[in-house]
Amino acid sequence: MIFWFSGTGNSLYIAKSIAEQNDLKLVSIASAENSGAEFFEYDLEDGEIIGFAFPVYAWAPPKMVLDFIHRLKLKNYNNNYTFCVATCAGNVGNTVKVMEKALNTANINLSAGFSVIMPNNYIVMGDVDSKDREEKKLAEAENITKKISELVFAKKPGMYNVIKGPLPGLFTGLVTPMFNKYALKTDSFYANDKCNGCGICEKVCTCKSIKVDKRPKWGKDCTQCLACIHFCPTKAIQFGKGTEKKGRYTNPNIDVSEMSKM
Ligand SMILES: Cc1cc2nc3c(=O)[nH]c(=O)nc-3n(C[C@H](O)[C@H](O)[C@H](O)COP(=O)(O)O)c2cc1C
Repeated sequence: MIFWFSGTGNSLYIAKSIAEQNDLKLVSIASAENSGAEFFEYDLEDGEIIGFAFPVYAWAPPKMVLDFIHRLKLKNYNNNYTFCVATCAGNVGNTVKVMEKALNTANINLSAGFSVIMPNNYIVMGDVDSKDREEKKLAEAENITKKISELVFAKKPGMYNVIKGPLPGLFTGLVTPMFNKYALKTDSFYANDKCNGCGICEKVCTCKSIKVDKRPKWGKDCTQCLACIHFCPTKAIQFGKGTEKKGRYTNPNIDVSEMSKM
């Protein structure tokens, strides 16, 4: 069973690839979180592999992923092989360590940690990758994911391809709490005149915060996944003053309908 969270499709793509090669079920973390359930209970088959796939946000797992783990109950868990795979644009800091700690509080042991470099979607600061760089990252990710799938199949413990980057303790220890405190807000989102009211932003929003009545209106919950910005077919959705001239990115192998199921 692979629990996945994804804003622009990268992590869903990796989750799907590993699931396919290992015959594992996929479970959307956002769907569970939006169901309003108090706890999330799943029945495991004997020895079933457990995985978590998600993007790195400010050098840590997204808050929604950690909230999900805190309310997760796995029936028939018996020290099953458990892995996490974090997708990132460059490096993950101490993301795997944070996951290990969160899983321990839910009495789950993390057996293996992986990361995969994917195209960047964080356009609030910086921009998307050039087309050339995007293609190179996607091609390399294909090979890394095949290797991860093999390691998962062999139930190999340890870390593989975890690119922590410089000063991981500092970035994860200091930047992550600031990000979770100040960035998870919707105040700066708006749609400009290019908006045609299609409603895609409402469908892909990972916390079901957006309601479209001619134009989108944002509630207060936000994961900063930027799905609304990137999936908007007319490039109408903006965040503050900086995103108008920035590029947009969604994983080319993931269809908007797969993200809409959340
Ligand atoms: C809010 C936010 C924060 C991010 N922080 C990081 C980061 O700390 N390090 C990094 O390498 N990439 C970072 N990224 C880039 C994403 O992790 C990367 O593009 C990821 O593959 C997106 O996955 P998704 O398509 O499944 O949402 C960030 C993206 C967002 C939206």
